[in-house]
Amino acid sequence: MPLYGLIGYPLGYSFSQAYFNKKFEALGLAGSYYVNFPLADIREFPVVVKANPGLAGLNVTIPHKEGVIQFLDEQDEVVRACGACNCIRFQDGKLYGYNTDVIGFERSWEPLLEQHHTRALVLGTGGSSKAVAYVLKKRGIGFSFVSRKERPDENIIGYAALTEEIMRSHTLLINTTPLGMAPKVEDAPPIPYQYISSAHYCYDLVYNPAETLFLKQARERGATIKNGHDMLELQAEAGWEIWNS
Ligand SMILES: NC(=O)c1ccc[n+]([C@@H]2O[C@H](COP(=O)([O-])OP(=O)(O)OC[C@H]3O[C@@H](n4cnc5c(N)ncnc54)[C@H](OP(=O)(O)O)[C@@H]3O)[C@@H](O)[C@H]2O)c1
Repeated sequence: MPLYGLIGYPLGYSFSQAYFNKKFEALGLAGSYYVNFPLADIREFPVVVKANPGLAGLNVTIPHKEGVIQFLDEQDEVVRACGACNCIRFQDGKLYGYNTDVIGFERSWEPLLEQHHTRALVLGTGGSSKAVAYVLKKRGIGFSFVSRKERPDENIIGYAALTEEIMRSHTLLINTTPLGMAPKVEDAPPIPYQYISSAHYCYDLVYNPAETLFLKQARERGATIKNGHDMLELQAEAGWEIWNS
């Protein structure tokens, strides 16, 4: 009986659990289950693995995407490059780590890319910003991170340093912060929105609400916008492909 699940903490409503259990039902996989494993401390991970011998695949979410790497037998090139793993395949007693945020972001983001989108600002420097940076590097798109803590030697600029010139020359804006996510829908990254134009493509990894304040302000200035909903589904599907490969 294959068992799938999600580790993270805290785990309230889980998109993945609802998505996969619905999928198993649709595919007639009566013996497959997807469960949540709330894990406050990643050191408890081996206990969960041992207690669930039927595990075939796991998703990993905040705050364990980095901490789980130490328990992997093998990690793919993307996990090594990003330093983050959000998908594990169990096979013959071994744990193989992948990063499907990269796949989900790339596949959802690229259809709206245009030729003039050659420079990006990545808002936030957390786990998902690494996945975004991996895709930007792969596509040869120059970028800077924007953070609450400026670190010029690491290509990280502060919000207060965002001038009109920087905003106009970076027509790709990607929000990887949780700002604007429900229930705090009145929050938005503190960027000078007045310099956003129809040349911009603004992408928000947040998917709830569908239009965050960041995306709303960008849309009102004529920018192309996209939220993280498709990314979420595409990373889930990529996990399913990996578990069945
Ligand atoms: N759509 C999807 O499939 C998908 C996938 C992954 C993540 N996400 C979403 O993306 C968001 C970030 O996830 P994550 O895993 O990268 O989280 P994370 O590791 O906690 O990183 C978030 C980053 O946002 C910045 N930040 C946090 N609080 C902030 C605040 N109050 N003001 C300004 N900046 C703040 C921080 O960067 P600085 O310290 O540098 O400012 C932080 O490192 C979450 O909302 C998550 O749900 C969506």
